Amino acid sequence: MPFPNVILIDHPVIQTKLTELRDYSTDHREFRALLDEIASLMVYEVTRDWPTKPRPVQTPMERTTGNVLARQVTLVPILRAGLGMADGVLRLLPEARMGHLGVYRDEATLEPVSYYHKLPPDIAATEVLLIDPMLATGGSGAAAAEFLKKAGVTSLKFVCLVAAPEGIQYFHKLHPEVPIYCAAIDRQLNEKGYILPGLGDAGDRSFGT
Ligand code: PRP
Ligand code: URA
Repeated sequence: MPFPNVILIDHPVIQTKLTELRDYSTDHREFRALLDEIASLMVYEVTRDWPTKPRPVQTPMERTTGNVLARQVTLVPILRAGLGMADGVLRLLPEARMGHLGVYRDEATLEPVSYYHKLPPDIAATEVLLIDPMLATGGSGAAAAEFLKKAGVTSLKFVCLVAAPEGIQYFHKLHPEVPIYCAAIDRQLNEKGYILPGLGDAGDRSFGT
């Protein structure tokens, strides 16, 4: 079933790496490397429609006009697991600023609990990428998007790896205008709010906890 405002990046190289990431026998070292590589590969698609502005440049041959990104970029990983995607995105957008939002799910209620936030002061004037590998119930992502909107952010995209249909629906009920980029839309959540088939707990697998 297609979801409006969800961009599924089903590039074969990304799908290959995602399959390795899902494998339960992939250890934390390999998991981190794969997460980092997939995040890098997603950047082309995620940034495709960002506006550019002309910039004069002197080549060795003559003067011409090139194009550069019109606005500054801010990456906002949701701690912890979003951190695993940040370096991969930064590799292609090295001038980006970073904000951090600490949010975890209460294991009993599955409600998001916010415990930390630090954003660049001028974030409202920038292109913002909210990053987190997992969109499960959608509670954490939606709470983070709400926080960013309250900080004045208007150009926001949510970049995840694996999304559950339930999470997409919940997130878009609250933030329909925020595009979701993902590498897979999985089948469903289980009774504990884990994505099936999913890849398990992304934070634990990244950090070996
Ligand atoms: C994971 C993941 C998301 C959240 C998704 O974090 O990184 O932030 O769960 O679930 P949701 O869509 O149902 O809110 P977790 O709560 O495990 O925190 P951690 O990264 O600190 O371990
Ligand atoms: N958070 C994760 O890390 N994995 C899931 O499957 C659901 C939430």
